[in-house]
Amino acid sequence: MVKLWNLQADKHPVAASSSPPAMDRFVGLTARETVERIAAQLDRGPTSADVASYLDQQDTLRHLRRKFLVPRMADLPQADLSLVDGSQECIYLVGNSLGLQPKKAGKYLREELDKWAKTGVHGHMAGARPWAWAENTLEGLMADVVGAKAEEVALMNGLTVNLHLLLLSFYKPTAARHKILLEDKAFPSDHYAEESQIRLRGFDPAGSMLGLAPRPGEETLRTRDILEEIEREGDSIAVVMFSGVQYYTGQLFDMAAIAEAGRKKGCFVGFDCAHAVGNVELKLHDWGVDFACWCSYKYVNSGAGGLAGAFVHEKHDHHIKPALLGWWGHDLKTRFLMDNEMQLQRGVSGFRLSNQPILLVCPLQASLEVFKKTSMPALRRKSLLLTGYLEYLIQHYYGEDPARPHKPHVRIITPSDPRQRGCQLSLCFSVNVAGIYRELEKRGVACDMREPSVLRVAPVPLYNSFADVHGFVQALGSALRACGQGATTSDPEEHSGILPR
Ligand SMILES: Cc1ncc(COP(=O)(O)O)c(C=O)c1O
Repeated sequence: MVKLWNLQADKHPVAASSSPPAMDRFVGLTARETVERIAAQLDRGPTSADVASYLDQQDTLRHLRRKFLVPRMADLPQADLSLVDGSQECIYLVGNSLGLQPKKAGKYLREELDKWAKTGVHGHMAGARPWAWAENTLEGLMADVVGAKAEEVALMNGLTVNLHLLLLSFYKPTAARHKILLEDKAFPSDHYAEESQIRLRGFDPAGSMLGLAPRPGEETLRTRDILEEIEREGDSIAVVMFSGVQYYTGQLFDMAAIAEAGRKKGCFVGFDCAHAVGNVELKLHDWGVDFACWCSYKYVNSGAGGLAGAFVHEKHDHHIKPALLGWWGHDLKTRFLMDNEMQLQRGVSGFRLSNQPILLVCPLQASLEVFKKTSMPALRRKSLLLTGYLEYLIQHYYGEDPARPHKPHVRIITPSDPRQRGCQLSLCFSVNVAGIYRELEKRGVACDMREPSVLRVAPVPLYNSFADVHGFVQALGSALRACGQGATTSDPEEHSGILPR
């Protein structure tokens, strides 16, 4: 067992069963140290494109990119073909919003469309993917990605629908215990879902919705503050409902510690894993998380509006029941007897309501099969270095320089501790972010802007390369100059004005 890119800040080094020999000498180094050592070995500056090429050559997961369709620069609606070579793949750093299309998605969809055309209703029971239980074959694959047992996972509905269904069973407020603890800036849909659940139960969000904000002047929550809030307010909290990774800041919460703190105070603890699933290692079962939900169109690449996931820990199999029933929650063996005598499936499977949209199952299957070719620990190892490299380059070029207060700079609001983030970095600019975003789009970069002032950039270890990260940072320099902010570099070799093509 060899430690690979054991970042110094990470006190829990991940172990790799094999590592590329050429990288052995970098074991135990931070991302910064790794980049600088490679640069020295290659006799190049640390910002040289050769360093990115070297890292890509050493990347044992690089073949997985070929399992996805990467849009061409020319196909991006805002790309300016006088600035970039339209035939090249774009710099896609927006898997935090919508993952790339797995190549097999189209094939699987065509198979089911053909089956429908040729056999009609018989497709429910026939073929490689019988529609009546197609999603059941994917739950084991999904369970591996979220660290659960297959029986603890259901694939169904959309994320917000699943959040509602789970809260209907886990949020049972009483006069003494009626609060939901959430992030002050939770994603709007989560906020609305929890607010409406509180009202549905006859309580007032003003007194029952407990939002936790970062300390004044800080962007992210401190774990200590979350745990202290649970300790202080726990007796009145019915449900602690956090995200796994915060959509705006990219902060990865200490889900194990939050689950334990909630359990000690008698609260149910749920997580919205929309930005965590497929991004970071999850151990929903081992952490004793009570329930969780997630969408699959971000890091799990199932396509817009794809089939969402739900998790209920097996410890609840016998006492947590779905509040709402549908025939898909009925035991499969007797489901079609149509006797109106509900034989509820155990655990989360009983929460199913409707028969599955087979057209949504197909792309999810295609993506989960790619995940099956690797593992979340392997993806995480790459991710630590990939995002660490992005952070290194941004700080190198655009970090705040007290000696040059007017130089445009970038502040990374995502925690610098790799244990507290996934692959996304959220960037705040000293100049207008909307202009930068537009200029990046012209240069073939796909990333996203979130109000009020953040650019989210997510190098996804499943398909992004170190060259993508390097190309992005070059494009950012060019975008800043185009916005009239002048050259910002300390490294003339890199900022010759030549754009990635
Ligand atoms: C954290 C979070 N919650 C909820 C949602 C809404 O998901 P859906 O529209 O699939 O219900 C999103 C969508 O991006 C999200 O990021």
